[in-house]
Amino acid sequence: MKSWTHPDSIAAADVESRMETAWAGRKVYSYTVTDSTNNEIRRLAEQGEPEGTLALAEEQNKGKGRRGRDWMTPAGSAVAMSLLLRPAIEPANASMVTLVMGLAVAAACRELYGVDARIKWPNDVVVDGKKICGILTEMSCGADGVHYVVIGVGINTCVEAFPEELLDKAVSLHKLTGNRPDRAELIACCMKKFEEYYEKFLETENLSQLKEAYNGYLAGKGGMVRVLEPGNEYSGISEGIDERGELQVRREDGTVESVYAGEVSVRGIYGYI
Ligand code: BTN
Repeated sequence: MKSWTHPDSIAAADVESRMETAWAGRKVYSYTVTDSTNNEIRRLAEQGEPEGTLALAEEQNKGKGRRGRDWMTPAGSAVAMSLLLRPAIEPANASMVTLVMGLAVAAACRELYGVDARIKWPNDVVVDGKKICGILTEMSCGADGVHYVVIGVGINTCVEAFPEELLDKAVSLHKLTGNRPDRAELIACCMKKFEEYYEKFLETENLSQLKEAYNGYLAGKGGMVRVLEPGNEYSGISEGIDERGELQVRREDGTVESVYAGEVSVRGIYGYI
């Protein structure tokens, strides 16, 4: 039962009590303020914490986004969470877990809030073309393979004051639904979906069993996209991902390019997505 004095608690015990998983999010560390929950998980991983350990924060003062960008997490207004994985997989296959998490967050937002959550390849979750969630995966590996993987997830639950440059690009679940999401419920639902999908991913070390669900949520599928690769820009029709998570883009001459997420940016011809 939730405490009336703090109805949206993300205290470790409150979140752990909501988990319906076997291992994901079963051990929670919750911080009032931290630099970055991804950094917390790195520290915990180095101390030997097990797979499934989850770090949460009310506020991050050095949150990290993709491509070296900052990620803003004002106190109490968002989910900032990072999950520790220790997969026995090839390092080259590890980046696919980011897409697995994107699928999990989109599925959780649909189930809990009835919003039309879609995935902007490879892993932003958007509603009506505006971003509600970003994911940053970091990996530690050596000659002996993957040591651990950190998947960091930021979800705009109640962020209202976006910086000027994000005003037409980002939105919060509160703004979309009129309700303030219960973050513990949202975190638990994301973990439940992630655990289910991740186990399917591990069976094959690819997305063959998740591709259909992912493509069903993919924003702009069947529409025109512009691929911005360093030194190579072209347009084509987005045909969805293949089993490695690479976006299939059909060019005007009928050839199909496999686009790898790395350094590439893909834009919908119209607007953010
Ligand atoms: C993006 O640029 O879209 C990725 C944003 C990822 C933000 C999350 S918030 C929790 C975790 N901690 C971080 O420092 N970053 C990730």
